Amino acid sequence: MKSITDLGNLQGKRVLIRCDFNVPLDGDIITDDGRIRAALPTLDQLRAQGAKVVVMAHLGRPKGEVNPKYSLAPVAKRLGELLGTQVQLAADVVGPSAQATVAALPDGGVALLENVRFEPAEESKDDAERGALAAKYAALADVFVSDGFGVVHRKQASVYDVAKLLPSGAGFLVAKEVDVLKRLTQTPDRPYTVVLGGAKVADKLAVIDNLLKVADTLIVGGGMAYTFLKAQGYEVGQSLLDTEKIEVCAAYLAQAKAAGKTILLPIDTRIAASIDFAGRTASEVTVVGVDAIPADQQGADIGPATEALFADAIKSAATVFWNGPMGVFEIESLAQGTLAIAKALAESSAFSVVGGGDSAAAVRQLGFADSQFGHISTGGGASLEYLEGKELPGLAVLED
Ligand code: 3PG
Repeated sequence: MKSITDLGNLQGKRVLIRCDFNVPLDGDIITDDGRIRAALPTLDQLRAQGAKVVVMAHLGRPKGEVNPKYSLAPVAKRLGELLGTQVQLAADVVGPSAQATVAALPDGGVALLENVRFEPAEESKDDAERGALAAKYAALADVFVSDGFGVVHRKQASVYDVAKLLPSGAGFLVAKEVDVLKRLTQTPDRPYTVVLGGAKVADKLAVIDNLLKVADTLIVGGGMAYTFLKAQGYEVGQSLLDTEKIEVCAAYLAQAKAAGKTILLPIDTRIAASIDFAGRTASEVTVVGVDAIPADQQGADIGPATEALFADAIKSAATVFWNGPMGVFEIESLAQGTLAIAKALAESSAFSVVGGGDSAAAVRQLGFADSQFGHISTGGGASLEYLEGKELPGLAVLED
């Protein structure tokens, strides 16, 4: 993969850099700035070289329409604070404001273009449409740096097409993320334990398929565990259940057994009669064995015996990858399982990797520091697709 160091002396050059600043917001307050902080090493290095830094990023899914709700204004402010310099936010993506902002940039200065997803062609399925927009991005710069790891699985104009038009290389974040994922898929220290959670089993099937080949133990928690439990013959009450995937889960259980691998499932679960996701509250939470889930209750977190079982498996591993919460961690009474897993990872001497999105936000929200883990990935979907063995367009385009 071509890297930023292959781009030569960047003094005075206009460097267009794609970052993933798709951060969680509460109004205009950024609730987790991890993705912005993760971009700092590359941005600092570019500034130190005297480059004129033009940052491209997206926020949310505005679907090609200008919508102030998805403006990058809060990101520009936070980025400026972290860099210790004024970050000029252009009022558009490639229009007169972007052009004037870039033209006025001093060496070492930083500008941020407005949300690239305000441009309808950014996410177009039509190569020519994306190519035409990419040409406008390319006109703003001399070289392109790809550092938005969380978005490299998207074949989009600011990720993929623009890299074909300018001399391009991966930034430090993309290079680091790829190194970690390579280690997880090719040379993990053993025993290697993978912890998967999250709501939807369908989203994780491909990754289970691929990781079962390389991991020694697979731990399944979160909403997706109930389809596995059903495949084992348990009744799961009102818990999340993907009836179409019960047989696939049964097949994975059989496949793992035949290969001498372990799939660990919950043995007890925290249940509630109702959950108000918007209001972040649940009715009374109790603990039952997975063989005793009442028909009118739903499992919404793993139970204490499961926490101990999973923590033991994590602590005896040499490599651990974790993606997806164990329960509805946003609600305090249902955060225990996720907290226990984060704690076990933080306390283990294993090379521990937290895979992106919700899991990264969860560990920070629960009060853990990034330094307590081997690596916290900035990519949710991107890291999972990598672990599924898929080709990621934003990485493939950077190959020599
Ligand atoms: C993410 O949040 O996973 C990335 O920023 C990609 O966002 P997307 O799923 O909207 O493409």
